[in-house]
Amino acid sequence: MDATQPSGISSDDAIRRYTRRLLLTLLFMSDHPISDPRALWPTLSEWEPMGMHEPVHRVRTRAGATAYVRPDDGSAPLLRQMALTSTVRAPEVLDARAGWLLLSALPGVPLHHVSVWRHHPTDMARIVTEALRSLECAGVTHGDMCLPNILGDPRTGQLTGIVDWRYAGRFTREIDVASAVWSCGFNGYTEDVAVAVLHGCGWPRADGLEVARLSRIWLELSGPSDVPNGATLTLPGLS
Ligand SMILES: Nc1ncnc2c1ncn2[C@@H]1O[C@H](COP(=O)(O)OP(=O)(O)O)[C@@H](O)[C@H]1O
Ligand SMILES: [Mg+2]
Repeated sequence: MDATQPSGISSDDAIRRYTRRLLLTLLFMSDHPISDPRALWPTLSEWEPMGMHEPVHRVRTRAGATAYVRPDDGSAPLLRQMALTSTVRAPEVLDARAGWLLLSALPGVPLHHVSVWRHHPTDMARIVTEALRSLECAGVTHGDMCLPNILGDPRTGQLTGIVDWRYAGRFTREIDVASAVWSCGFNGYTEDVAVAVLHGCGWPRADGLEVARLSRIWLELSGPSDVPNGATLTLPGLS
């Protein structure tokens, strides 16, 4: 894609995204045969809400492992395919029941936890870059590459996972890059970090103007944002 062209976002894209959100909301309200997923997996314990937008829960399995329960957003076939054919670090589908998915927990700390990652800005930018590159290599788009969806290990500086695949395959690579660089600024990182991400992933232009252009594209698509988060959240820790 030519990043120097004006925004590739059509109003159709934005309408599709909002329509999908609305449909998902209606689905959760009306179509789940069992609205409380606890009844579907009675052996899971320690249910803890984690989602900012979706009813995502961190849980403990009977074997003592951490896992995540989330509404079935249609991403399971892609997650299964990527597990077989790519090196993208995405959750494994452990089970699917009545409109809900049980996914493996990826290790690491989400990159919006500024209290952790501000001490490692270079690692943090490299992890975002690696995440974007891994998607490109696999030929998939994620659709919401904001920092809460990218996990890394602050001890090793390595990418450990990409979560929240509900918009996978719906938008272009430019949207993945746009959400990532916008999220850097939104979560309090300096512009240098976003510019380093653009450099790292070989984007045709890497400067403050491009960060601003991409950020506008993301906001045009996603609408007004939630409050920044992470600095005050409880860390899940490295699992
Ligand atoms: N499979 C997973 N492994 C590790 N952490 C996860 C996993 N799924 C979700 N999370 C954590 O839970 C948070 C919320 O989940 P997410 O699917 O992004 O929902 P939302 O976007 O509604 O907040 C993520 O930012 C991440 O910190
Ligand atoms: Mg998310």
